[in-house]
Amino acid sequence: MSVHTPAGFDRPVTTATLRARKAAGQRIAMITAYDVSSARLVDAAGVDAILVGDSLGMTVLGHPSTLQVTMDDMLRATAAVARGTKRALVIGDMPFMTYQASPEDAMRNAAAFLTAGASAVKIEGGAHMAPTVRRLTEAGIPVMGHLGLTPQSVNQLGGYRVQGKDAAAALALLDDCRALQDAGAFAIVLECIPAELAALASAELTIPTIGIGAGVGCDGEVQVFHDLLGLGGDFTPRHAKHFAELGALVTAAVAEYAADVRDRAFPSEEQTTHMDAAALEQVRAARAGTVRRISGE
Ligand code: KIV
Repeated sequence: MSVHTPAGFDRPVTTATLRARKAAGQRIAMITAYDVSSARLVDAAGVDAILVGDSLGMTVLGHPSTLQVTMDDMLRATAAVARGTKRALVIGDMPFMTYQASPEDAMRNAAAFLTAGASAVKIEGGAHMAPTVRRLTEAGIPVMGHLGLTPQSVNQLGGYRVQGKDAAAALALLDDCRALQDAGAFAIVLECIPAELAALASAELTIPTIGIGAGVGCDGEVQVFHDLLGLGGDFTPRHAKHFAELGALVTAAVAEYAADVRDRAFPSEEQTTHMDAAALEQVRAARAGTVRRISGE
């Protein structure tokens, strides 16, 4: 299948590319990936950025939330994604409590993401995280912010709910956006907020906003690989759309394989290698002697 990428979209993507996309009014396409094969596929599809999301806790590791994800989980996934990516910007998602406790923790752990192959990190939180964003960016580590529904704060938020619905919450989110931009963030993910608020934030900021469940008024969109491709089991979040039903396809293909194995239809001649007849005769003769000796004939 050939992939159409618009002119000028074939060069490696940097944070400056994303800023230029916003300035030119070109929307940014971002998706998650967690291993080398999914990274190769989405990079070949021409996405601008790949987020090694801590959603890997649920999609890949089977945890109930992102709170169980560790640095080891994330660094192994980030290194694999980086090895599979030629063009897109690879962003590593910093797990719960690897950056909140102190800017020193954040510096040490963010550096590990860059050493593993990411070109940037993402952290959740608003104005209170601005000093950390500033420290990281001053140390040469590009930071993407994440506001609205921040899954690492699910217990504080009281569930996975749309954020910023009333005027006070909306104004607080706009202040948080501004604080992150002023601290040096190169982009901000806006998750599960009303489309009107996302559009306001996108108009106010000079850095790109990347929406998920935030309407079409953001400067770009991010979605979880498994949600887009029908690999997420029975649950599909309201903000996601299946662009393919790979889950059903995989189950049908593996069921066909299992049936062919049981019916001796697989492997067939096409997948089989044969031995030279003379060598086989020698082996048979040698084994016949062994069998006679063992059975005492
Ligand atoms: O972990 C993740 O996949 C994310 C996106 C949903 C933005 O943070």
